[in-house]
Amino acid sequence: MNYDDLVKTAIEMTKKSYVPYSHFHVGAALLDKNGKVWTGCNIENAAFGPSNCAERTAVFKAVSEGILEFEAIAVVGGPEASDGKVVIDEFCPPCGVCRQVLSEFCTKDFKVILANGKGEQKIFTLAQLLPESFSLK
Ligand code: THU
Repeated sequence: MNYDDLVKTAIEMTKKSYVPYSHFHVGAALLDKNGKVWTGCNIENAAFGPSNCAERTAVFKAVSEGILEFEAIAVVGGPEASDGKVVIDEFCPPCGVCRQVLSEFCTKDFKVILANGKGEQKIFTLAQLLPESFSLK
Protein backbone atom coordinates (compact mmCIF):
# COMPACT_ATOMS: atom_id res chain seq x y z
CA MET A 1 0.00 0.00 0.00
CA ASN A 2 1.35 3.46 -0.86
CA TYR A 3 1.44 6.34 1.61
CA ASP A 4 -1.55 8.16 0.04
CA ASP A 5 -3.73 5.09 0.58
CA LEU A 6 -2.34 4.71 4.10
CA VAL A 7 -3.43 8.32 4.81
CA LYS A 8 -6.89 7.63 3.33
CA THR A 9 -7.26 4.62 5.64
CA ALA A 10 -6.23 6.73 8.65
CA ILE A 11 -8.82 9.38 7.70
CA GLU A 12 -11.52 6.67 7.49
CA MET A 13 -10.54 5.49 10.96
CA THR A 14 -11.29 8.91 12.50
CA LYS A 15 -14.97 7.98 12.00
CA LYS A 16 -14.51 5.04 14.41
CA SER A 17 -13.01 7.13 17.24
CA TYR A 18 -14.84 6.87 20.56
CA VAL A 19 -14.39 10.42 21.84
CA PRO A 20 -17.36 11.58 23.95
CA TYR A 21 -15.05 13.68 26.19
CA SER A 22 -12.60 15.49 23.90
CA HIS A 23 -14.57 15.27 20.62
CA PHE A 24 -11.12 15.09 19.02
CA HIS A 25 -10.87 12.24 16.52
CA VAL A 26 -7.59 10.55 15.62
CA GLY A 27 -7.10 7.77 13.09
CA ALA A 28 -4.00 5.69 12.40
CA ALA A 29 -2.97 3.17 9.75
CA LEU A 30 0.12 1.10 10.50
CA LEU A 31 1.87 -0.70 7.64
CA ASP A 32 3.73 -3.86 8.62
CA LYS A 33 6.75 -5.32 6.81
CA ASN A 34 4.53 -7.87 5.04
CA GLY A 35 2.39 -5.10 3.55
CA LYS A 36 -0.60 -5.59 5.83
CA VAL A 37 -2.31 -2.53 7.34
CA TRP A 38 -3.39 -2.38 10.97
CA THR A 39 -5.88 0.32 11.81
CA GLY A 40 -6.50 2.25 15.01
CA CYS A 41 -8.62 5.02 16.47
CA ASN A 42 -8.58 6.78 19.84
CA ILE A 43 -10.83 5.27 22.49
CA GLU A 44 -11.63 7.44 25.51
CA ASN A 45 -12.87 6.55 28.97
CA ALA A 46 -14.92 8.36 31.62
CA ALA A 47 -11.95 8.05 33.99
CA PHE A 48 -9.76 9.77 31.30
CA GLY A 49 -6.55 7.91 32.30
CA PRO A 50 -7.48 4.62 30.61
CA SER A 51 -8.01 6.35 27.24
CA ASN A 52 -5.97 4.98 24.36
CA CYS A 53 -4.51 6.87 21.42
CA ALA A 54 -5.14 5.82 17.82
CA GLU A 55 -1.49 4.93 17.18
CA ARG A 56 -1.27 2.63 20.20
CA THR A 57 -4.57 0.97 19.28
CA ALA A 58 -3.04 0.06 15.90
CA VAL A 59 0.28 -1.11 17.39
CA PHE A 60 -1.39 -3.23 20.07
CA LYS A 61 -3.75 -4.84 17.56
CA ALA A 62 -0.78 -5.89 15.41
CA VAL A 63 1.50 -7.01 18.24
CA SER A 64 -1.32 -9.05 19.81
CA GLU A 65 -1.55 -10.94 16.50
CA GLY A 66 2.18 -11.70 16.49
CA ILE A 67 3.31 -8.92 14.14
CA LEU A 68 6.45 -7.15 15.36
CA GLU A 69 8.01 -5.49 12.31
CA PHE A 70 6.70 -2.28 10.82
CA GLU A 71 7.47 0.10 8.00
CA ALA A 72 5.29 3.20 8.44
CA ILE A 73 2.29 4.74 10.16
CA ALA A 74 -0.11 7.42 8.90
CA VAL A 75 -1.73 9.59 11.58
CA VAL A 76 -4.49 12.17 11.11
CA GLY A 77 -6.78 13.92 13.54
CA GLY A 78 -8.94 16.88 14.30
CA PRO A 79 -11.93 18.21 16.21
CA GLU A 80 -15.57 17.36 15.56
CA ALA A 81 -17.77 20.03 13.91
CA SER A 82 -21.31 20.70 15.14
CA ASP A 83 -22.64 18.43 12.36
CA GLY A 84 -20.55 15.56 13.79
CA LYS A 85 -18.05 15.54 10.91
CA VAL A 86 -14.34 15.44 11.68
CA VAL A 87 -12.41 18.55 10.67
CA ILE A 88 -8.92 17.56 9.58
CA ASP A 89 -7.27 20.93 8.95
CA GLU A 90 -4.00 20.63 10.84
CA PHE A 91 -1.26 18.04 11.13
CA CYS A 92 -1.66 15.75 14.17
CA PRO A 93 1.75 14.48 15.33
CA PRO A 94 1.87 11.49 17.72
CA CYS A 95 2.07 12.21 21.45
CA GLY A 96 5.17 11.34 23.46
CA VAL A 97 3.71 8.12 24.84
CA CYS A 98 2.90 6.86 21.34
CA ARG A 99 6.38 7.79 20.11
CA GLN A 100 7.86 5.70 22.93
CA VAL A 101 5.56 2.74 22.15
CA LEU A 102 6.48 2.94 18.45
CA SER A 103 10.17 2.97 19.42
CA GLU A 104 9.72 -0.40 21.16
CA PHE A 105 8.89 -2.10 17.86
CA CYS A 106 10.10 0.16 15.06
CA THR A 107 13.55 0.92 13.71
CA LYS A 108 14.89 4.45 13.52
CA ASP A 109 14.05 4.72 9.80
CA PHE A 110 10.37 3.83 10.40
CA LYS A 111 8.27 6.55 8.73
CA VAL A 112 5.56 8.63 10.41
CA ILE A 113 3.27 10.21 7.80
CA LEU A 114 1.15 13.19 8.82
CA ALA A 115 -1.50 14.73 6.59
CA ASN A 116 -3.60 17.88 6.77
CA GLY A 117 -6.83 19.01 5.13
CA LYS A 118 -5.05 20.64 2.18
CA GLY A 119 -3.76 17.25 1.09
CA GLU A 120 -0.26 18.10 2.27
CA GLN A 121 1.94 15.49 3.93
CA LYS A 122 4.87 15.69 6.33
CA ILE A 123 7.00 12.58 6.63
CA PHE A 124 9.34 12.05 9.58
CA THR A 125 11.49 9.14 10.66
CA LEU A 126 10.91 7.90 14.20
CA ALA A 127 14.47 9.01 15.04
CA GLN A 128 13.51 12.58 14.11
CA LEU A 129 10.44 12.50 16.34
CA LEU A 130 12.12 10.74 19.27
CA PRO A 131 15.84 11.53 19.30
CA GLU A 132 18.04 10.05 22.04
CA SER A 133 15.28 7.61 22.94
CA PHE A 134 15.39 5.42 26.02
CA SER A 135 16.32 1.76 25.71
CA LEU A 136 17.73 -0.87 28.09
CA LYS A 137 20.64 -1.64 25.76
N1 THU B 1 -4.71 11.32 20.78
C1 THU B 1 -4.36 10.31 19.93
O1 THU B 1 -5.19 9.45 19.60
N2 THU B 1 -3.09 10.26 19.47
C2 THU B 1 -2.10 11.14 19.82
O2 THU B 1 -0.96 10.94 19.46
C3 THU B 1 -2.43 12.30 20.65
C4 THU B 1 -3.80 12.35 21.22
C5 THU B 1 -6.08 11.37 21.30
C6 THU B 1 -6.20 11.11 22.78
C7 THU B 1 -7.52 11.76 23.10
O3 THU B 1 -8.56 10.83 22.85
C8 THU B 1 -7.62 12.89 22.10
O4 THU B 1 -6.66 12.63 21.09
C9 THU B 1 -7.41 14.26 22.68
O5 THU B 1 -6.22 14.33 23.38
